[in-house]
Amino acid sequence: MDKIISLGDPTLGEPEKAALNEVIDSAWLTMGERVKRFEREFSALHEMPDGIAVNSCTAGLHLAMIALGIGPGDEVLVPSVTFVATTNAVLYAGATPVFVDIESLECPHISLESADRLLSERTKAVIVMHYGGYLVDLPAWRDFCDRKGLHLIEDAAHSPAVGNVGRYGDLSVFSFFTNKNMTTAEGGMILGKDAAALEKTRYLRAHGMTTGTLDRYRGHAYSYDVTMLGYNYRMNELQAAMGLVQLERLPSWNARRLELVALYREGLERRCPEIGLLFSGDHPNAGHIMPTILPQRADRKKIMDGLRAAGIQSSIHYPPVHLFTHYRERFGEITLPRSEEFAQRELTLPLHPSLSEADVDRVVGALERILGE
Ligand SMILES: Cc1ncc(COP(=O)(O)O)c(C=O)c1O
Repeated sequence: MDKIISLGDPTLGEPEKAALNEVIDSAWLTMGERVKRFEREFSALHEMPDGIAVNSCTAGLHLAMIALGIGPGDEVLVPSVTFVATTNAVLYAGATPVFVDIESLECPHISLESADRLLSERTKAVIVMHYGGYLVDLPAWRDFCDRKGLHLIEDAAHSPAVGNVGRYGDLSVFSFFTNKNMTTAEGGMILGKDAAALEKTRYLRAHGMTTGTLDRYRGHAYSYDVTMLGYNYRMNELQAAMGLVQLERLPSWNARRLELVALYREGLERRCPEIGLLFSGDHPNAGHIMPTILPQRADRKKIMDGLRAAGIQSSIHYPPVHLFTHYRERFGEITLPRSEEFAQRELTLPLHPSLSEADVDRVVGALERILGE
């Protein structure tokens, strides 16, 4: 039996182990110099002045809502083709998500035209999500939000270190969950054009306290005040130490992902022409996942079972959020035809930097065989 080709593996090894050991030896386990350095280096890589590290992207999205003053009575335009964390953050803040259809099957980004039609007096913000690592048209969204007086939030969980990501959103939030382009096991980072809102998230992530533990330890401050209702969304030093090591290699990993995406595109176009590809080959992309569109009448379950039998993992990104029971119970029946068709036909193939050319060839070959049966 050939080795299993997994969907998405983190790259971990000696540098991560050494970094974690150093933290343990230092005996300073949370919110210390490594967190600060990680914030500096991550924001510098994105050409932004500052970053706020948090313990997940979900936590970061929640803080983004609060820092931008979004709450009960407000509506936030959101995609449904996303991970549920994007829209849960709106619910945590007590605001109402308004689901917007995608542009097309080839471009499953939140549609600007549909968003425009769903605006109301109560609309306060838009969350765009860089699906699969493919960047949404940020200048167009910035322009739209400026004209309509809305906040723009980037859910950048899939797309670190690519193009102009993180430079257009009032706040932009990244994920370092295990399956992401770089990982800290769990973790997230907030960047922002809106310096005041970004600064507010610094306090919100630690109970709204006006000083940090490290400041007090060093004698820079001996007490603190609490000026807002905050949370414990802090990142720890172990996460930051891993993040620093992973960050160094992120650009080369992203480049390798794009090489593999190009190989997939070439192989699929040639050997499985009935499979649809997303975007164009040169669309700005972090290569987070390898999404494809199956032919209209294809039996996706059978294809996924066939791939599994050939030792190849596959997945679906995503079951649309508006169809989840919890969301249906709260918001009733909503129809988004393009999102629903996309979700029915999408199939995600393995993609991570340690895949070889031969692995991609094996995946494409297995698909060609299964589709021909
Ligand atoms: C699009 C998107 N948004 C948000 C998240 C939440 O990230 P985290 O697990 O860091 O909270 C994820 C993670 O899977 C995601 O894919």
